[in-house]
Amino acid sequence: MTGPDEAVEALLHEQRQFRPSKEFSDQANATTKTYEDAASDPEAWWAEQARTLEWDTPFTTTLEWDLPHAKWFSDGTLNASVNCIDRHVASGQGDKVAFHWVGEPENDRVTITYADLLVRVSQAAHALESLGVQEGDRVAIYLPMIPEAVVAMLACARIGAPHSVIFGGFSAEALSDRILDADARFVITADGGFRRGEISPLKPAVDEALKKCPDVHHVLVVQRTGQEVSWKEGRDVWWHDIVDSQETTHSPKSFPAEHPLYIMYTSGTTASPKGIFHTTGGYLTHTSTTHRLVFDVKPKTDVCWTAADIGWVTGHSYIVYGPLANGVTSVMYEGTPDAGGRDRWWRIIEEYGVTILYTAPTAIRTFMKWGEEHPQAHDLSSLRLLGSVGEPINPEAWIWYRTHIGSDTCPVVDTWWQTETGGIMITPLPGVTATKPGAAMVPFPGISVDVVDNEGHSVPDGHGGLLVLTRPWPGMLRGIWGDEERFRETYWSRFEGMYFAGDGAKRDEEGDLWLLGRVDDVMNISGHRLSTAEVEHALVGHPSVAEAAVVGASDDTTGQAIVAFVTLKMSGEVAQGDEAGLIQELRNHVGEVISPIAKPRQIILTPDLPKTRSGKIMRRLLRDVAEHRSLGDVTTLTDPAVVSMIDDLMAEHANDDD
Ligand code: WT7
Repeated sequence: MTGPDEAVEALLHEQRQFRPSKEFSDQANATTKTYEDAASDPEAWWAEQARTLEWDTPFTTTLEWDLPHAKWFSDGTLNASVNCIDRHVASGQGDKVAFHWVGEPENDRVTITYADLLVRVSQAAHALESLGVQEGDRVAIYLPMIPEAVVAMLACARIGAPHSVIFGGFSAEALSDRILDADARFVITADGGFRRGEISPLKPAVDEALKKCPDVHHVLVVQRTGQEVSWKEGRDVWWHDIVDSQETTHSPKSFPAEHPLYIMYTSGTTASPKGIFHTTGGYLTHTSTTHRLVFDVKPKTDVCWTAADIGWVTGHSYIVYGPLANGVTSVMYEGTPDAGGRDRWWRIIEEYGVTILYTAPTAIRTFMKWGEEHPQAHDLSSLRLLGSVGEPINPEAWIWYRTHIGSDTCPVVDTWWQTETGGIMITPLPGVTATKPGAAMVPFPGISVDVVDNEGHSVPDGHGGLLVLTRPWPGMLRGIWGDEERFRETYWSRFEGMYFAGDGAKRDEEGDLWLLGRVDDVMNISGHRLSTAEVEHALVGHPSVAEAAVVGASDDTTGQAIVAFVTLKMSGEVAQGDEAGLIQELRNHVGEVISPIAKPRQIILTPDLPKTRSGKIMRRLLRDVAEHRSLGDVTTLTDPAVVSMIDDLMAEHANDDD
């Protein structure tokens, strides 16, 4: 056996491809005909996929496209929660497991069948209605990874109230911004959650956030940890007090296909996050179809585990809507990968016989660092397919994943998509497409992609450029909540008639696609999307800070890491010894304003920032500095001395990382 390094070398050198095995191909859901059918008439193909859902009123139109607005299946009506639950129960699948839920504390687990889920969602839907939630009302959900998160989402969908799930790691300030932007009048939260063996509070953040949100009528609180919480009579209601006593059946209403299903906030290039909103029929079609074909799902036998948080779009599409629409069994895990040992994931896979694992490169790189002995200690032979999402996967991590987790046989699908796209857009199809370590390969059937130069001209094979989407797709965002102008400006103004994704991409000599990372001021930290402006905004909100410039520097584990260059209001007045204290304070400040995931890896205090003559901060140059690259041309700097000074400061603080 060759070691992993040699194997990587060999593969990279050979530029090896993995061809689908005959065994896999013979059983695969997708075939080459899938591509042909979709290519010959994409709209008809999507309509055929949409018909696998249960419609109360069948649609007669497929696509109305008035750039940048698309409507899919618009005269059809359906209910998302019925498609995810009721129809499976009605077809005799009630006893089938929907979720094997695994809590972070050992032996804290629940198995939920489709019939159980129907009862829980029905009760929650009644409870929301009894609190006054009506069709169209936005409901903010701020929960840990517990079954109630899924139940709350589906209960909202059932009564036509769009949910806005806010990642439990976000701070009170981020929470209030999002509640206000969506004008949500109801919040569903928990007393707290478990994180690395500790209890982390959630309700106090909601209490703090709601000081700024006077229009929130009710807060529904799940008791998860049993910790003390403060209580506002009349506003706060315990979940168990109001949900558990409700009737166990609930008659669902049908909604038009374009009824809003949810809002999900994500970082753009400015300091304020944007509310990406998705509607019902197209989104469900896109998520269920991609789930079925990309993961080759066999509902009778597969156990899917999307190891992501429900607070991000990956969780929405591939823990909740896609898998449930397809009636499959999923694993849902509350905690961190090292809770209870560095083999926690592998124990879960062994115990539940997980067949399909979907995770992010940052997790894979962390497991690589922890060593092969952890997965090797477990029987992972149930796995038959591996997926990757969230950031470019480096070939080394891809091969390690396939070799050490996938026993050298599992196809690895690297899937490119975004909060905005709703579902997977670029990916191999297992059993059909060859795979190459590090490449997302080809557009999903029915999806049209191009790589263009600055003028919007398609680049030839072997060249790089900007990724664009050239036709509407069913899961596409329908807008930015309350901001039509920003919607047009962000995605549709760069190139006429094309959606600008914000990513760089390369088409190799064989025409296969490689994603190269963001080309705008959006950073990708462990698969979490953050804007440089957001972190700068948080930093300048601190009383000591005059100016801040933030860059995403490449990082071996997290993909990118945040490096901040900060000038102080009273520069020169921080004594040597106080500097470390202030830096720590600034990091915590960012953690409090946004989220701990936004804490800069490194903060450099500097008397000045490099700017162009027109006064723009030279971010690209700072990135070179942060990545310890040579500085290149600095002639346009107002003061080249600033750069070498920052460079010296960086060298001095090279070991500050923690
Ligand atoms: C950005 C979208 C997709 C759900 C999770 C992230 C990057 C995503 C890949 C991939 C290279 C990727 C892009 C994209 N990205 N998947 N397979 N290869 N880059 O959703 O938070 O909306 O972020 O993540 O830069 O634009 P998101």
